[in-house]
Amino acid sequence: MPHGLFITLEGLDGSGKTTQIKRLATWLERRGLPSLMTRQPGGTATGERIREILLDARSSPLAPLAEMALMFADRAQAIAEVIEPALAAGKIVLCDRFTDSTEAYQGGGRQLGSDVVLEMHRLVCGGMQPDLTLLLLPSLEASLARARRRNTHTEAKTGRNEGRFEAEQDAFYRRVWEKYREIAAREPQRVVCIEGNLGIDEVHEQIVEAVAERLVTETRSA
Ligand code: TYD
Repeated sequence: MPHGLFITLEGLDGSGKTTQIKRLATWLERRGLPSLMTRQPGGTATGERIREILLDARSSPLAPLAEMALMFADRAQAIAEVIEPALAAGKIVLCDRFTDSTEAYQGGGRQLGSDVVLEMHRLVCGGMQPDLTLLLLPSLEASLARARRRNTHTEAKTGRNEGRFEAEQDAFYRRVWEKYREIAAREPQRVVCIEGNLGIDEVHEQIVEAVAERLVTETRSA
């Protein structure tokens, strides 16, 4: 039975994942390798409804465990409906966020810790692992500046403040960033960490290099 390639993109909000995933899809297409792009949360009709709940919930408190469970409900649906069938058909799946996001945001950011996230991943996703994860991780300072700009933007749109909120967000994103670093250090075979404050083209080149290398390995082992 053919088996495709499962590639995930990870990083903080505003790290440029969406731009890069599209460029990667175009690059693959030009080489006669069509891919399927999807995102989490979302990516299925049910997933989009779950995403709506998650986005709504941002304005009111949502218990961290409830947030995590919703992320996994979305993921279970995406695996069953989109990811597994595509891989079984031999396709390349490009997924914007996967369980590393839950470990970084809920495990790190919301301080649930890695163990509970990884345990739930084993139960709900059968421990499914991407063949390759591209982690876009500019310096902590640049990441925090982006998060802050995003807050200012939200504040301009909603009229909500504040210094306190910004301070909390800094601490939150710092924990997310650190957890991503921890994941990359723990799984260097799977996770390619693209660090530093690089331009769009430079990041694309590094992504393409990592994917090309993985494609060669897959061809050899097929
Ligand atoms: P989205 O608008 O898709 O953000 P981005 O374009 O940065 O990916 O919103 C997804 C948000 O959900 C993002 O802030 C990260 C968060 N998230 C989690 O907290 N846990 C998860 O498991 C996933 C998949 C996303």
